[in-house]
Amino acid sequence: MPTRPTIAFPKNFLWGAATSAHQVEGGLNNQWTVWELENAKALATQAPYQFGDLPNWSEIRHEARMPENYVSGKAVDHYRLYQHDIALLKKLHLNTYRCSIEWSSIQPEEGVWNASEVEHYRGVLTELKKQGIVPVVTLFHFTLPVWFAKMGGFEKRSNNRHFLEYVDRLTDELGDLLGMIITINEPEVYAAMSYLEARWPPQQHNRLLALRVLNNLIRVHNQTAALLHKKSPQYEVSVAKNSVWVHPGDDAWLTIRSAGFMQYLQDDYVLKRVVKTCDFIGVNYYFSDRVYGYRKHNPNQRLSDLGWDMQPGDLEHALVRLHEKYKKPILITENGLADADDSDRKWWIMQTIVAMQRALEKDVHLIGYIHWSLLDNFEWDKGFWPKFGLVEVDRRNMKRAMRPSAIWFGKVIRRLRG
Ligand code: BGC
Repeated sequence: MPTRPTIAFPKNFLWGAATSAHQVEGGLNNQWTVWELENAKALATQAPYQFGDLPNWSEIRHEARMPENYVSGKAVDHYRLYQHDIALLKKLHLNTYRCSIEWSSIQPEEGVWNASEVEHYRGVLTELKKQGIVPVVTLFHFTLPVWFAKMGGFEKRSNNRHFLEYVDRLTDELGDLLGMIITINEPEVYAAMSYLEARWPPQQHNRLLALRVLNNLIRVHNQTAALLHKKSPQYEVSVAKNSVWVHPGDDAWLTIRSAGFMQYLQDDYVLKRVVKTCDFIGVNYYFSDRVYGYRKHNPNQRLSDLGWDMQPGDLEHALVRLHEKYKKPILITENGLADADDSDRKWWIMQTIVAMQRALEKDVHLIGYIHWSLLDNFEWDKGFWPKFGLVEVDRRNMKRAMRPSAIWFGKVIRRLRG
């Protein structure tokens, strides 16, 4: 049995939870809300084929078969209840909140600037400041204004200027309250889900286009980072890179080669192209992948509600690899699990904390950990049934309730923060 690490977390370590606007705010109008309304019925009909094999199907079937599950609608009303939700962060002894600013609310039409929406986000950021909570703000978390999507979104390089102009003005107006900024959330997840697997809007199935979107997101990150760095040294910028630790399951030549190639495609294709403009590396970690031959074959001993193989301890290896390869500070910008009955979350977080300590012992420059998610929320094409929240939300009355694992996590953070 390896001994438990004893290393302390750095004094200024960021302990946080995350959300994104579309998944929690409610009342939005963007390319996703349009798509949801057109597709909710079909998604509900397909649910038994999509999720019927999950071990918890009997528990989720009711929600998963309702079209309303697939419409973000009021989401969890975070737009109105943000002060209450920030108070929850405090209760959990967290000192960091990752959230996103919704571009489509601020620029609902091309050339229109909605000052009252900027004021809304000023309110959110001011409240965070008042409560001593560090904001980590995402600029693009999968949603686009309808007008921008209609002109092709990130499919066209020439469209980047609209995003850059938006960021320029946004930071003119809110910059005094911004510090850590995530330009693009999971660029290749967006490119793959929307343009390769055709599961997210605009549901394209086109390899070349997927690659073009990915390359353009890389480009727009670099352009945005350059803009921000030029505007002020106070900005610390990164993408949120969904990292997977890919490892060989045996020592066959083919296994080792293909694991290496998969790892490159998974992490390095994007990171190599953005790392120079990143002040830190934002890492979203949910999985590792074990490879035999040219196939992934995970142990699947313990599955989350979404059927994802849970290997929280492998975070250590992901962090060590990224540290050795890129030599930048690392912020875990997302990590968590769908776990409606809260039976695995405490175990997951415990394993994760140990993995982070082991990484710290190996000199990884880890600056923080942000759990996904603060609240139960809208999980994109799967809707509301997957429950990622530290805090459970009853959408009938929007009541929040801390899950037992969250109460435990809060006590642990208080101890670890000293
Ligand atoms: C995304 C989140 C999502 C989470 C869980 C990440 O890919 O950034 O928006 O809810 O994973 O699936």
